[in-house]
Amino acid sequence: MKLFDVYPVNDVTITKALGSYVWDENGVQYLDMYGGHAVISIGHTHPHWVRRIEEQLEKIAFYSNSVNIPIQKELAEKLGKVSGKEDYQLFLCNSGAEANENALKLASFHTGRKKIVAFKKSFHGRTSLAVAATDNPAIVAPVNETDNVDFLPFNDEGALKTYFQTKGKDVAAVIVEGIQGVGGINIATESFLQLIRRLCDQNEAVFIADSVQCGYGRSGKFFSHDYAGVNADIYTMAKGMGNGFPIGGILIAPYIQPKHGMLGTTFGGNQLACAAALAVLEVIEQDGLVEQARQRGMYLLNRLKAIDGIENVRGRGLMIGFDVPAELKDLRKNLLNNLQVFTGEAKPNTIRLLPSLAITRKQVDEFLELLQEEIAAIKNEKVPE
Ligand SMILES: Cc1ncc(COP(=O)(O)O)c(C=O)c1O
Repeated sequence: MKLFDVYPVNDVTITKALGSYVWDENGVQYLDMYGGHAVISIGHTHPHWVRRIEEQLEKIAFYSNSVNIPIQKELAEKLGKVSGKEDYQLFLCNSGAEANENALKLASFHTGRKKIVAFKKSFHGRTSLAVAATDNPAIVAPVNETDNVDFLPFNDEGALKTYFQTKGKDVAAVIVEGIQGVGGINIATESFLQLIRRLCDQNEAVFIADSVQCGYGRSGKFFSHDYAGVNADIYTMAKGMGNGFPIGGILIAPYIQPKHGMLGTTFGGNQLACAAALAVLEVIEQDGLVEQARQRGMYLLNRLKAIDGIENVRGRGLMIGFDVPAELKDLRKNLLNNLQVFTGEAKPNTIRLLPSLAITRKQVDEFLELLQEEIAAIKNEKVPE
């Protein structure tokens, strides 16, 4: 049987990983500034994470949500504490798209309304409603097309106000990434997020903070939306939550009432996934990784701003992007093939950095050196002293 060929792949086979490094089948070491697409939060194969999963595996890996699962409650408690959203409720699922799908459904159940407001350049996943709220017609199948989602320009307060003036009472939810990831590392301004909060309050709509990529400490706060000093009604999470073990979830404000059967999943919240997620939070808490991501990110951002050739350096914490001019169009490919550094991209010309929150200062310096080396090689210049 052949694999269904939907992924353009780099010709690298990774067979081992530790911290911020991975190794290929020939033992060649790579610096991972991509974190397998923002997934690696506490570092590859972190020993505490490995041990906790192994110990859980010896006991029970899975039983469905038809029985008591105390480790889910343990996870909810720890997540409340580490995120600072202690009075929220937790629903567990398996991926980012599922988290958004459930959040949007829940908002519609709660309000009895159909309209979703999403933004230009957003990415919310590939399930039916999540993809309908994603600004990329190429991945929206005909069956997913709907008039229920309206796309407004990102960070445009005037457009949002005007929209709410006429349609506010039809809006079930506004869904927004605190920092757009796939869209190219675009930060939602604090006043934009505050306006979303105000308009949702005035119109009894639900504010959904898609934190699948920008959440879980990556931005230097547990949720990047926290920079605006307002709470969302629902936070969606996945990626960094399991450090590579598939798990997603939504945090739900206390005023939203559950009803049996309203949401559900077979695998979501299974014992093994909860053990992985608990290990992640324990390490984040113990090693102060949210604050570390903030500081290390600031250092990386400032150093990048001083590098000649790259443009428009932006981001928060360890979610950073910069643009490459046409003359450096091969930079990302060369970093991987010539200097063994993984980075991410956003079309058309952005390089995205999404390393582990536990990346060391030395590894950041190593990256900066390699980046300058490759830029100089492309420009055929000497590395600046
Ligand atoms: C902001 C955001 N939301 C949702 C998703 C979808 O997550 P998943 O691929 O786990 O379904 C992604 C994935 O890149 C994302 O970046």
